[in-house]
Amino acid sequence: MEKNKPKIFITRMLPERGLNLLFQNFGRENVKIYLGETPIPYEELLKEVLGMDALLCLLTDKIDEKVMELAGPQLKIIANYAVGFDNIDIAEATKRKIVVTNTPGVLTETTADLAWALLMASARRLGEGERLVRASQWAGWNPTLLLGVDIYGKTLGIFGMGRIGQAVARRAKGFNMRILYYDIQEQSLPKDLEATKVDKDTLLKESDFITIHCPLTRSTYHAFGLEEFKKMKRTACIINTSRGPVIDEEALVQALNKGLIFSAGLDVFEKEPEIHPDLLNCPNAILIPHLGSASVETRSRMAEIAAQNIIARLNGQIPPNTVNPEAL
Ligand code: GLV
Ligand code: GLV
Repeated sequence: MEKNKPKIFITRMLPERGLNLLFQNFGRENVKIYLGETPIPYEELLKEVLGMDALLCLLTDKIDEKVMELAGPQLKIIANYAVGFDNIDIAEATKRKIVVTNTPGVLTETTADLAWALLMASARRLGEGERLVRASQWAGWNPTLLLGVDIYGKTLGIFGMGRIGQAVARRAKGFNMRILYYDIQEQSLPKDLEATKVDKDTLLKESDFITIHCPLTRSTYHAFGLEEFKKMKRTACIINTSRGPVIDEEALVQALNKGLIFSAGLDVFEKEPEIHPDLLNCPNAILIPHLGSASVETRSRMAEIAAQNIIARLNGQIPPNTVNPEAL
């Protein structure tokens, strides 16, 4: 690597469009990529960040004080390849004047699509049906086989009405649903959305489907526990495409097994990639491996945006997706 040119470390192979932007701007020789097939081990990350000006990391990388300290004072930006940034110690980054960026916007519709896929799959028991067919155990059409719950005309409860929550709500109009939402922030919604803001209790009690779209913070950790599941309808489905720890998995297992709720559709888990062993045995849980933003187009756009944030910062500009403007 050349002296004086900014150096960039990327913790995983990413779509070409983003990488090419960085190669063109800073020279291929100044961009180092970890090429492992699984997340970079923490100890290796600690070694690789030394002397870097920019770090492009994933939600699977824990970026704490130690990483920032070992990188050195020249580190100017941590560009997360995700909209969520709970994997990064933001307060520590701000203290060190390191800008943190994320990739919002581009993954909104893609993630809303997946939330709907999970909603429909958990309402209509697609996981159980698929397993039955593949096990060659389908004995033919049956009036009572795998009866689910209806979606059309029901009440959708959105927990966290940011960009993704609103995109999910827009889709619900096609299903003639009544839309309730809960958010601790004031959201100015487009007039035609026709969603009603309610308190958490009302959301729990009146929703037929609850879909989670809040970030993981101290106040949303285990926002759904046994107490919440007890308040929900016995026929309700819960969908999570945000962050696993927003749901207390132990409590969810109980709720599913005792029939406190009808089903769950989960894209995220408390200790990814580990899954609570009892959750694996719940037939009424649809479990998929954190695929919210996983479309070819969106992952490519995310790489581009992360690269653009780095380019802006290393050229002395304010990156478009700065999450800690206080650092500047
Ligand atoms: C994915 O979970 C993201 O935060 O982008
Ligand atoms: C993320 O994009 C959100 O604000 O929902």
